[in-house]
Amino acid sequence: MKNFILSLILAAFVLPAQADEGMWFLMHIERLNYRDMQKMGLQLTPDEIYSVNHSSLKDAIVQFNRGCTAEIISDTGLVLTNHHCGYDAIAELSTAENDYLTNGFWAGNNSEELKPKSLSVRFFVRMDDVSKRILSLLNDGMTEAEREATINREIAKIEQENNEGGKYTVSVKSFYSGNEFYYFVYQDYNDVRLVGTPPASIGKFGGDTDNWEWPRHTGDFSLFRVYADKDGNPAEYSESNVPLKPKYHLTTSLKGFEENDFAMILGYPGRTNRWMPAGGIAQNVEFAYPAYVEASKTSMDVMKKYMDKDQQVKLDYASSYAGIANYWKNRQGMIDALKQHKTAESKSKDEKAFQKWASKKGNEKYANVIPVINGYYKKTNEISRHNNYLSLLLRTRMATLPYRLGNDIEYYLQQNEAKQAELQPKLDAEINDLYEGIYIPLEKDILAAQLKLYSTKAENVAPMVAKLATENNKTDMGWNNYLDTAFKNSVFESKEKLEAFLANPDAETFKNDPLLLLSRDLLTRYRYKTEEEKQWDNDYDRAFRLLVQGMRLQNPDKKYYPDANSTLRLTYGKVIALPADKRNDANKNYYTTLKGTVAKYQPGDAEFDMPKKLIDLYEKKDFGQYADKDGYLPVNFLTDNDITGGNSGSPVLNGKGELIGIAFDGNIEAMAGDVIFDDQLQRCINVDIRYVLFLIDKYAGAGHIIDELTLAK
Ligand code: ARG
Repeated sequence: MKNFILSLILAAFVLPAQADEGMWFLMHIERLNYRDMQKMGLQLTPDEIYSVNHSSLKDAIVQFNRGCTAEIISDTGLVLTNHHCGYDAIAELSTAENDYLTNGFWAGNNSEELKPKSLSVRFFVRMDDVSKRILSLLNDGMTEAEREATINREIAKIEQENNEGGKYTVSVKSFYSGNEFYYFVYQDYNDVRLVGTPPASIGKFGGDTDNWEWPRHTGDFSLFRVYADKDGNPAEYSESNVPLKPKYHLTTSLKGFEENDFAMILGYPGRTNRWMPAGGIAQNVEFAYPAYVEASKTSMDVMKKYMDKDQQVKLDYASSYAGIANYWKNRQGMIDALKQHKTAESKSKDEKAFQKWASKKGNEKYANVIPVINGYYKKTNEISRHNNYLSLLLRTRMATLPYRLGNDIEYYLQQNEAKQAELQPKLDAEINDLYEGIYIPLEKDILAAQLKLYSTKAENVAPMVAKLATENNKTDMGWNNYLDTAFKNSVFESKEKLEAFLANPDAETFKNDPLLLLSRDLLTRYRYKTEEEKQWDNDYDRAFRLLVQGMRLQNPDKKYYPDANSTLRLTYGKVIALPADKRNDANKNYYTTLKGTVAKYQPGDAEFDMPKKLIDLYEKKDFGQYADKDGYLPVNFLTDNDITGGNSGSPVLNGKGELIGIAFDGNIEAMAGDVIFDDQLQRCINVDIRYVLFLIDKYAGAGHIIDELTLAK
């Protein structure tokens, strides 16, 4: 028995950490990962990946518009990211006449590049650990609110100390649920211009049907350029700005790769919940996600109806539709995967082991953690359902627009003429911004559909909605009729109407505006918590922090990495196939080819149409230097890197740190990956860089862009 236990302990000790699992901090690579990475094929030193003293790989990785990742691939500031990351900017720059989303766009030179209204890239300068500094100010007697206030005061100081008089943006974030703290120093550039994009029939080939699926055939890339002032500093848009000379840019590899080759990804994963307790998973599967999925689909159906009727409406709503559709499919995939893999059950086993550990002498601090966490989830199931319906309702623009303008307008109306004149420009800009590309018939319909859903499916709904629901009989018709009148009687019905009102205002009418009242009702409900609920949250936060802390003490030999939270991480693994799949024509199921793309081609289809020119190139086998040595034109490929939303657009690098692809998706079988990593199932779907270059060169005829790159042949 003794030996048995000893061998168990030894086994735990010598088992290598899952090479492919983990989103690691760059400053920890040397200590935690380097030897492992070297064994797998890395040829760079840790210093070549991350250095604060000289340029390194990290200088070529940017966060793209706060939600995606991108990489610098030329010494003239060329930025490569996904098509779906550039989508919003491309749609914004498109009109029904010049529809770049549908037809693609390629600037012939710098002066033809297009500046979208707002688009930024964020460079990473350095990071450091401030855990000791912050934790030394905290103690177990504090409430969560006191704790938070103390942390925030210290964070403000750390930001101040490191921003070099405003030159940098400093962000301090908590890791391991408030057990560690790191600060990150960034430099933001706000003049970023569109250089090129394939048409959606390439960049979004396969649409929502293929989204989150493998085998995949999507040319999911777009190209931008960062501009700076003549000294290389960030500057707002100006004609005199010049392409940025970056500290470092990636070398692009034409050499291809094979199965089991080393592959690493640097980027900004948005959010994972790998520490999520069993109760949280069960709550999501049963209450939160079903509501989210149902409400998303409700919005999508209404949007689609209007988008199909009018090309301008389609462009105006394309990006927001794609965003909703993406997570609609993701959340349904999560429900299915979490159920199928019994993730809650396996987490629950870990928690039983933890409870046993916590009941040992010396671990009393942790004894109550699991009961508090389980109790919390039992009490909040209905609340989570309610909150998901309500947050999808609040994503409809007319649910929040009156609220957002309301306070500013009320303030404005209270001022004297001089002060009003001073406030006017800002208010006008805000109004223009909020009404930009809005289509009221669609908005009214969506709002009616969401109000009906919310008032019938959620408990404890906002008071005004509850009252209206009774009066309107909770039917579609009832809500539509109500909103017809409400819009007619509201100054928010259109921008023109609002401007006319402001030219001749009446504070009394404004106060009783039906859409303002509704909007305020919804937002007030969204923020409302009973004292009891606040106490639950407080107890949960503390228990969850102790759970993570305790689990790390319980397993002292395990290498841990913190959950994703939109900070720069590195993940490494290899190119690797999934089991053979007859839907994939390639010899091995780790890549797809242009032949497979053409096999999916459906002329005129909204998702599977292809440009004629691409089919011609395929038929002539005119692949130039971009074909694989086996003759096929590669399109997408798989690695076992550990990524999530936010990593979109991240570079996939070989052992020399050369660019071999762009990460753009995950597979549906692995949707549980947000809460548990499964190395058998989880794959990262990437665009082969050779497909990207082929499209730029052969399809778009933009050889001048290829000339900018540093190629490794
Ligand atoms: N699933 C991808 C991601 O979350 C987005 C793909 C966008 N494409 C689409 N058909 N909606 O990064």
